[in-house]
Amino acid sequence: MVVSTRQHGAIMLVTVDNPPVNALSQQVRAGLLDAVTQVNDTPGIKAAVLICAGRTFIAGADVKEFDAPPLPPQLPDVIAAIEASDIPWIAAIHGTALGGGFEVTLGCHYRLCDEKARLGLPEVTLGIIPGSGGTERLPRLVPLENAVAMITGGRPIDAHAALKMGAIDRIGDGPLLEAALDYAEEVAAEPVPVPLAERPAHHPTTPDFWTGWETKLRRSSRGQASPLIALETLRDAVEIPFRDAAPRARKTFLDLRQSDQAKALRHAFFAERKVARPPSLQDIPPRPLADVAVIGGGTMGAGIAAAFLSAGYAVTLLERDADSLAHGQANLEKILASSVKKGRLDGAGKAAQLNRLTPSTDYSNLADVDLAVEAVFEDLAVKQDVFRQLDAVLKPGAILATNTSYLDVNAIAAVTQRPADVVGLHFFSPAHIMKLLEVVEAESTAPDVMATAFALAGKLRKVAVRSGVCDGFIGNRILQIYRRQADFLLADGCLPQDVDAAMRAFGLPMGPYEAQDLGGLDIAWANRKRNAHRRDPAARYVAIADALCEEGRFGQKTGAGWYRYAAGNRTPLGDPAVTAIIEAESQKQGITRRAFETAEIQQRILWPMINEGAHILAEGIAQRPLEIDMVELHGYGFPRWRGGLMFYADTMGLDRIVADLTRWAERDPLSFTPAPLLADLVARGAGFASLND
Ligand code: COA
Repeated sequence: MVVSTRQHGAIMLVTVDNPPVNALSQQVRAGLLDAVTQVNDTPGIKAAVLICAGRTFIAGADVKEFDAPPLPPQLPDVIAAIEASDIPWIAAIHGTALGGGFEVTLGCHYRLCDEKARLGLPEVTLGIIPGSGGTERLPRLVPLENAVAMITGGRPIDAHAALKMGAIDRIGDGPLLEAALDYAEEVAAEPVPVPLAERPAHHPTTPDFWTGWETKLRRSSRGQASPLIALETLRDAVEIPFRDAAPRARKTFLDLRQSDQAKALRHAFFAERKVARPPSLQDIPPRPLADVAVIGGGTMGAGIAAAFLSAGYAVTLLERDADSLAHGQANLEKILASSVKKGRLDGAGKAAQLNRLTPSTDYSNLADVDLAVEAVFEDLAVKQDVFRQLDAVLKPGAILATNTSYLDVNAIAAVTQRPADVVGLHFFSPAHIMKLLEVVEAESTAPDVMATAFALAGKLRKVAVRSGVCDGFIGNRILQIYRRQADFLLADGCLPQDVDAAMRAFGLPMGPYEAQDLGGLDIAWANRKRNAHRRDPAARYVAIADALCEEGRFGQKTGAGWYRYAAGNRTPLGDPAVTAIIEAESQKQGITRRAFETAEIQQRILWPMINEGAHILAEGIAQRPLEIDMVELHGYGFPRWRGGLMFYADTMGLDRIVADLTRWAERDPLSFTPAPLLADLVARGAGFASLND
């Protein structure tokens, strides 16, 4: 029985027990409706307590049901039945009351939480809006500003914030069930409060309330439709009667469920959970992990140390000499100070973290660590030297990890006596913030080392993606294609601002050239020079970036890069000097420059990236397309509402992508020839999704 009832004197206890998260499946909805009848029809019942078994209150609709038509009873009817009851219902909330779960509590007459409960309407993050009265009832319960922030932002709030804004009535002391039964006894004697559906809505307090929100959401949503649709729906909820607004919102919810954006966001939600559990690691227990070391206190190393410290690990930060160590500690201090400033950490938390830090310049201090992560200069010989030293001092069973972003992890493992204990842990900068962690499996990496890396990612609250060894692994290998294709477009007729605008219009937070100016052009230039001898002489090469670097234009830090910058200002400004360099390159390549439409720019960049993704899959660097999707979403700002690179490819149609690539390949076969896997999927009429299971 997913919903059961038990009489407790004059109180009916209604318990939902539908693991893992008490999602509102059809059975739960039907069970709740029966429970309402039972409460109403049982003589002597004076109040009902709705409570959930397991780790959480109802965490929302069952998202797995969203691909099929909704089955009766519909949730709005269940909630209306609770709300219409003459007997007061008390929602007793622990864990998370999310989406439909929170909407159920809005139908209840009282809401009681335990200390740790969280409440929210995260629907917009799934590309939909609340479909069971949430947009109508919440602005009748809490100030409009709070209702709009919760619904359009989708972020849950904690019990104290909920109490403060009036979303709940009480935070219970002690065990939730006892507190709820006491509360029920108390309210049983009171008249049942007026249902939210019958109360007046809160109205805006400023004349530009709606337009202000619209401007803000248009900017932050970057092409995602649901926050703006939620805003319109909220406006309806406030301006027209509940009985008209609620069915309209329901229809919008049902329509949105089938939208491409909602499908993409559902894919992202489930892929995040799937990617954390690679099939090859099932049932392999991780090694114990408590003490870690980070070698190198530069930007990356300090960020990695900060990530470990905030997850509760004891960290030894190792540098080669006292000066470098002081510098590393200062980097770490800066990160912690900024976390305090941003409210992510308080003073006591910072002190506790620093208490777990041991600065050191002596490898012999690492004898007891369970894991050492190397984050030194990106040079094979330097890294190999660190690994030899780690190999000499680390205890048996300790894990040796490299944070390299391009280098061969096999060659690093090979200098140790224990290659099975070596793995790549590729963090993204800033490492204490960015969600992505590429876990690079070298030829000899032991399965339980991989399992440990995945367990670690869970503790660090990161999204771990397994990658095989290749130049750049999954993410940077695709990034190279992205940048190369963007440069081709410059030579063919675009300016940096055209390409940046097109990629922002696609949904990326920044275009490739703004991003390069922010990060600096010099490191990539050094890489290109170092790898020049490996470049295929037949491959097209555009030397515009090299020409910029030769003029000392390294980006924002030098006041000029792909753009120029006014002193003290980070706004990119078009620069005739850059245009001249670009046009000279076009001329050198014998190209007649032409204009490109936004869609053409996007496709010229994205199709080859998808093609590279197909190569990456065929080579086993990634095992499932969803892994590439997660890398793009969590490491490179790919718009979540497009689901990720390979999901997006399926949405656009692989046949169309192959046709375009084939046409472009006539002029440049090395850059555009469709990958055999892509051609094969088209021949079979299948998509990348077919390779996800
Ligand atoms: N519908 C269907 N399945 C759901 C679900 C939902 N609303 N919410 C969670 N699940 C599943 C997850 O897919 C996962 O399944 P798996 O173990 O097969 O991978 C399982 O429940 C546990 O979820 P997980 O996220 O791993 O657990 P958690 O304890 O870290 O987090 C929640 C729990 C409820 C906070 C989190 O799952 C969540 O935010 N869920 C979505 C809530 C939501 O958006 N509701 C509104 C829907 S309109």
